[in-house]
Amino acid sequence: MRDVVRGPGEALPHNLWNGGVALDVQAPAPLQRRHGPRRTAFPIPAGIHRGAIRIIRQEAIPAHGGTGEGSAHRLETYAPEREERPMRAIVIESEGAAPRLLEDADESLLSGDVELDVLASSLNFKDGMALAGKGIARAHPLIPGIDLVGRVTGSVGSDTERFSAGDLVLLNGDGIGESLHGGFATRARVRPDALVRLPAELSAERAAAIGTAGFTAMLAVLRLEDAGLTPDAGDILVTGASGGAGSIAVALLAGRGFRVLASTGRVEENGEYLRDLGAAGVLDRRELSEEPGRPLQSQRFAGAIDGVGSTTLANVLAQTAWGGTVAAYGLAQGPDLPTTVLPFILRGVALAGVNSVDCPLPLRQRAWDALADELDLDLLDGMTTSIGLSETIGHADRILAGEVRGRTVVEVTQ
Ligand SMILES: NC(=O)c1ccc[n+]([C@@H]2O[C@H](COP(=O)([O-])OP(=O)(O)OC[C@H]3O[C@@H](n4cnc5c(N)ncnc54)[C@H](OP(=O)(O)O)[C@@H]3O)[C@@H](O)[C@H]2O)c1
Repeated sequence: MRDVVRGPGEALPHNLWNGGVALDVQAPAPLQRRHGPRRTAFPIPAGIHRGAIRIIRQEAIPAHGGTGEGSAHRLETYAPEREERPMRAIVIESEGAAPRLLEDADESLLSGDVELDVLASSLNFKDGMALAGKGIARAHPLIPGIDLVGRVTGSVGSDTERFSAGDLVLLNGDGIGESLHGGFATRARVRPDALVRLPAELSAERAAAIGTAGFTAMLAVLRLEDAGLTPDAGDILVTGASGGAGSIAVALLAGRGFRVLASTGRVEENGEYLRDLGAAGVLDRRELSEEPGRPLQSQRFAGAIDGVGSTTLANVLAQTAWGGTVAAYGLAQGPDLPTTVLPFILRGVALAGVNSVDCPLPLRQRAWDALADELDLDLLDGMTTSIGLSETIGHADRILAGEVRGRTVVEVTQ
C-alpha cells in the first residue's frame, strides 16, 4: 500500500486532493491495468482553506466492495471555522466605475474549475487600460489582472486531472482580466484550458515578472525562429523597447545571438538600460513614428518585433529587407496601419501576428519552456519593479503614459 497518510493533527499531504474525507485507493492489479491506480476525494466545503484541514485519524480499509482485493486509506479530517483570511481584490463594479481595492471581497464572485491562492500578478499595458476604463473590461463586476501565478488549493470538475492541490501554476490571458476574473486578488478560480505548470527554474515572483509581456515577447521570437530567421541574416529591430514586452524581447534576441537595434522614445533615459539588456544600437522612435514614409525605403532590418503599430509599423515594414519577417503584437502608438501591399509583394516581407490571449496550450508550453531555459534571470531582476495591490490602481496612468520601464510585479498581499 502506498503510504500517503501522515499522523493525526498534521496537514493534508500536498500530493493528495483536498477532501473532507479522502480515499487513496490502490486498485488490484487487473483493475490497475484497465483503469490505472485510482484516487477519490470529496471537495472541501466552500470557504474552507486547505491549510486549515487537519487529519484526525487514518484507517486502512478494504477497497472494492470489501472483497479484500486492493486496499485504501480513509482519512478522517476536520476543518475548523471558515478560512480566516478574506479575499482582497481590486474590483471594477460596473462599466465606467472606478476600480476599488476591497479588503473583504465576495469570493462567490469567482467561478472556474481550478481554485487557487494567487501568489503574484503583474501590471501590463492592458491592465492599465482596464483600470482606466479604456475598453478592456468586458464583464462586470470584474477583477482585473491578465496574469497570475498561483498555488492550486482545490480542483473540481472532471477535466482537471492534470492538476492537484499544492501545484504551482501560471496563467496569462485566456480571458482573465477581460471577461473572466483575473489576478489582482488573493484568490482565483480559473478554467484549466490554458493553465501551465510553473517551470521549476522560476519562482512565482519571477514568473509574474515575465508575465504576459515576456510570454508575448517569446511568442514573437518564436515567430521569427519559425520563419527561419538566424543571427547571420542581419539586424533585428525591437520597437517600444523600454516597455515590458520590448525589454524582454531585446534580452531574448540578444541571448540568441542576434544584433538587436532598440527603438525608444526615451533614448537619454533608457539608452544605457537597453544596451545592458543586449541592444547593439539604440534608435530614437521619432525616426519611425512621426510620418508614414514611402512604402518602400532603404532595407535596414532583417526582421523586427513591433509592439507599437500605426505609423511606426508601416515604416518598419518599409525598411525590412527582402524576405524578412516582422512579428507584430502591440498598438502602443495606435491600432491603425497606414501602409500598402508593396513591402509584401515586392520584397516578400511577412507580417506575423502574435496573440497571447487565445494561444493554444502546446504553444504556451513551448514558449514557457523556452523562457525558463533562455531568459537571463539577472537581466529580468534588473528590469523588474514590485508594487503592492494597494498601489496598482495608481500605476495605471503611468503605464498608459509610457512612463513605466520594464516589468512591474504586483504583490497581491501587500
Ligand atoms: N498581442 C498580444 O497578445 C499582446 C500581449 C501583450 C501586450 N500587447 C500589447 O503590446 C503593447 C505593449 O505592451 P506592454 O505591456 O509591453 O506595454 P508597456 O510596458 O507599456 O510598453 C509599451 C512601450 O511602447 C512605447 N510607446 C508607448 N507609447 C508610444 C507611442 N505613442 N508611440 C510609440 N511608442 C510608444 C514605450 O516604449 P519606449 O518608451 O521605449 O518608446 C512603452 O514603454 C501594448 O499595446 C499591449 O496592449 C499585446
